[in-house]
Amino acid sequence: MFSATVSAPTNIACVKYWGKKSVALNTPINSSVSVTLDQNDLKAVTTVCVSKSFKKDRLWLNGTEEDVTKSKRFMACISGVKRLATTKVSTEGEVLVDKSEWKHFGVHVSSMNTFPTAAGLASSAAGYAALVAGLAEVFGAKETYPGELSTIARQGSGSACRSLYGGFVAWRMGKDHDTGEDSLAQQVCDENHWPELRALILVVSDEKKDTSSTEGMSTSVNTSKLLGYRASTVVDERMRSIEKAYTERDFETFGKITMQDSNQFHATCLDTYPPIFYMNDVSKSVIKIVHAYNRWKGKVAAAYTFDAGPNAVIYHLEDVADELLALMLQYFPDDKFLGSLFGSSFVNNPQAWDRA
Ligand code: ADP
Ligand code: DP6
Ligand code: CO
Repeated sequence: MFSATVSAPTNIACVKYWGKKSVALNTPINSSVSVTLDQNDLKAVTTVCVSKSFKKDRLWLNGTEEDVTKSKRFMACISGVKRLATTKVSTEGEVLVDKSEWKHFGVHVSSMNTFPTAAGLASSAAGYAALVAGLAEVFGAKETYPGELSTIARQGSGSACRSLYGGFVAWRMGKDHDTGEDSLAQQVCDENHWPELRALILVVSDEKKDTSSTEGMSTSVNTSKLLGYRASTVVDERMRSIEKAYTERDFETFGKITMQDSNQFHATCLDTYPPIFYMNDVSKSVIKIVHAYNRWKGKVAAAYTFDAGPNAVIYHLEDVADELLALMLQYFPDDKFLGSLFGSSFVNNPQAWDRA
């Protein structure tokens, strides 16, 4: 038996992915870009064990076994990484497992999230990134082109491809609609680029959402004309502007686009039929308070974004961190706050994946 334990952080998108071009390949209708949060805060910790005596592939999530026998996503990650496996050799140079043998190994996975699962804080991103990283570690997988492992994580959960890199990470939608080979993550700026950037996370609810991201975006693609307009006309320009803003550490532009894109994403949810409500009244009051705060500061000093759930992520710079936290605690004394630093995060080097 061989095993590895790794961890991967979550990421929170500034320009959102919402809608699949191909369900089979899990490719998106638009590119997206996100900030990878720090490993110390919100992460999935995953142990992958492989053995010839394991008769089937199994997953335990937060201590409870999930039935993955019919999960195409979970199986796609295992088969995808197995294809890149290499021969395992001991430190003395003895062949332990020839690469042709790995296909006979079953896989058991145990994963824990350090933050609420399925509550709109991208647990699927951290979870599938950690799964692919753990599998890559055990099987000694080697990419044949940069970003190949991210194409495998993408098949687990779209947002997961971006969690394989630290810093500011784009998911390029790609042009090859037959294979999805070029629908991959690309680091725009590394985790050291903007050390003053912070995320304040307001856990409004840690309950499992009633509409999963997968199900929600499928209904949106089928019913929302606004979503089609967004993908064809709005996103590309936003991607260009926000990548430039992040590169130049221009918080005003970065923050404004982040808020506008979150609002447009939630507008497409409302335009979906029947409508989907991910934000609740507390989420909406966070939006109001952030705009009031920015008015008072005379600039964009804080920028909210909400994924498919009610929980708020507020990007800001270090110099306003205490003030912003004090403001939020005053309004929401009962909610849980998780401050997150962007320090060393997940890095683009399989050998440097964090062994938990
Ligand atoms: P979220 O907003 O948290 O990403 P999703 O609806 O996109 O919510 O995905 C939640 C699903 O992702 C879970 O029900 C589970 O199937 C999967 N998932 C979450 N965390 C993990 C993990 N650590 N390992 C494997 N799968 C996970
Ligand atoms: C709102 O990546 O969870 O968080 O590919 O079906 O697993 P699947 O969906 P998922 O969707 C994430 C949606 C989002 C925006 C984003 O992260 O870009
Ligand atoms: Co998700």
